[in-house]
Amino acid sequence: MEKLHKIIMDVDTGTDDAVAILMAIASEKIELLGICTVNGNRNVELTTDNTLRVVDYVGKGGEVKVYKGCALPLVSTLDPARRPLIPYGDKYFDGQENHGNHLDLPETELKPEEKDAVSFLIETLMKSDGDISIVAVGPLTNLAVALRAKPEIAGKMKQIIIMGGALTEGNSGPLQRAEFNFWADPEAAEIVLQSGVELTIVPLDVTHKTCIKEREADAFEQMGTKAGHAASIFIKRRIGNYKVWQPVCDPDEAPIHDALCIAGLLDPSVFTKVVECQMKMDFSGGTADGISVVNFKPTTRDLDGIFRPAVKNVKLVLEANRERFAKIMGELVAKL
Ligand code: BDR
Ligand code: CA
Repeated sequence: MEKLHKIIMDVDTGTDDAVAILMAIASEKIELLGICTVNGNRNVELTTDNTLRVVDYVGKGGEVKVYKGCALPLVSTLDPARRPLIPYGDKYFDGQENHGNHLDLPETELKPEEKDAVSFLIETLMKSDGDISIVAVGPLTNLAVALRAKPEIAGKMKQIIIMGGALTEGNSGPLQRAEFNFWADPEAAEIVLQSGVELTIVPLDVTHKTCIKEREADAFEQMGTKAGHAASIFIKRRIGNYKVWQPVCDPDEAPIHDALCIAGLLDPSVFTKVVECQMKMDFSGGTADGISVVNFKPTTRDLDGIFRPAVKNVKLVLEANRERFAKIMGELVAKL
């Protein structure tokens, strides 16, 4: 089958990143040019190791290349009071937690490529025909650094599909109103939001409404494939955790945020309500630090008080078809 989508993934693996990676590797329609890792759910050493474990587990070592990326956010950790726990290391989390330091997969001997993720992004995009989509499901540090180092790459990206941001939901920050990926590196998120690249934003508001159910994880396990088994383990871990620590859904289901981006890339009809609007970050260091702010109106007003047309910089996904998402996930993990 002809590959329809050339993509680079940018991940902080992570159980939901892992399901997204499995889906991308399994899809005959995706040419996965490389996977960049970044500090996020865990420090970059762990997110890189976890990414390599996923690749190795499904027998794609050497074929799917992994590039280690930025170890810290741009500036949010410079003030130790602002993000005191980042980077999340080996010892921070106790008890039940979404990801674990290491994914529940066998250890791997695989190593990341010599080239760093930012260099890989710049070199690959600059020599491309502008036909590469980025699927970014961790903090946006790698893309922000790449955009600062080589602004021309903005014109070379077909689109970026981003898991990030929140309108009324939240999982990070003092009032739990920020979304983790944007909260971890809000300045990087703002650089990407201002890049002029076509951006599809998949916020928590939609990932919390499209949870994968325990019975679906059971069915993935029954498929007898490695990807089905791994996805089932990760989804069940998340269900166990959400039920106790983040009751945003029914107790027999959990959001698999990052995987929704791959489903929407493969089948845009998964995204059933998409609104073009203006999105900006708050990075003030105060209570709203790391929160994405959305303007749905046609105008904006700067500090001079003058109304101007709002720059609609994002396609914001507000609704998605849960059944279709779960079906695509199942069809893909059945293949690998
Ligand atoms: C996002 O944060 C991470 O913990 C997940 O992997 C996902 O990308 C959800 O807020
Ligand atoms: Ca992630």
